Amino acid sequence: MSSSEWRNDQPLPYHVAMIMDGNGRWAQMHKLPRIAGHHAGAKRAEELIRFAGDTLNLPYLTLFALSAENWHRPKSEINLLMQLLDQFITDKLNEFVANNVRLLVIGDLSVLPVSLQRTIEHAIASTAGNSGLVLSVALNYGGRQEIIRACRKINAEITAGTIDPERLDITTFRSYLYAPHVPDPDLIIRTGGEQRISNFLIWQLAYAELYFTKTMWPDFTVKEFLQAISDFQTRDRRFGATEE
Ligand code: IPE
Ligand code: IPE
Ligand code: MG
Repeated sequence: MSSSEWRNDQPLPYHVAMIMDGNGRWAQMHKLPRIAGHHAGAKRAEELIRFAGDTLNLPYLTLFALSAENWHRPKSEINLLMQLLDQFITDKLNEFVANNVRLLVIGDLSVLPVSLQRTIEHAIASTAGNSGLVLSVALNYGGRQEIIRACRKINAEITAGTIDPERLDITTFRSYLYAPHVPDPDLIIRTGGEQRISNFLIWQLAYAELYFTKTMWPDFTVKEFLQAISDFQTRDRRFGATEE
């Protein structure tokens, strides 16, 4: 095993979250339409999901597929992305069921096409009993929006007298997020060269290790995923404490 590969004797991340960026630029580099980049990106996601579940035995994987801000893109790209997402979830469902993958979706689904909403509901229900990899797909997701949604829910409970605002703490707040039972990510990987978070999991990433790579998402191989994990394994996570 080369030194760039992950080590079995070092702790693996429990939850990896990925900002799958660079599909459009990958397509441009190959003189293809942007949607071809999204198709290539979906293939890559497929491969990494399989690897994370079957080989790494990773408990949690979260993939940023569409941000709340991505609605600012041309309608033609959005429509094609919606079709691709529907097709992806439909095509992969049997494999998720067979491989014990549990699907979750985080984000505001209410404005998605109704057919996509049905596909998502069906896939979530069909995999709800699975106990392997928990795959969360962030779709029309924004971290600020998630926090505001939680505040609204908490406010309603305060008004109803079911929450004492003086006792509101991190644990209570967390329980109002989209996926309260998913632990915070240990490692966030962003492909595509940008070194920013773009409104992804901003509450949850408080102590995540960040890994940025210039590789465009469609070129992000299993080998590079292992390099990111190997890099993670060299980090000294202090969580505010000292070494002692
Ligand atoms: C990420 O790739 C996928 C989505 C945001 C849907 P981009 O489409 O942002 O690709 P670039 O950043 O333009 O290359
Ligand atoms: C982040 O990528 C969202 C996803 C990967 C789904 P963007 O391409 O939307 O981010 P910005 O616009 O470069 O910040
Ligand atoms: Mg981008």
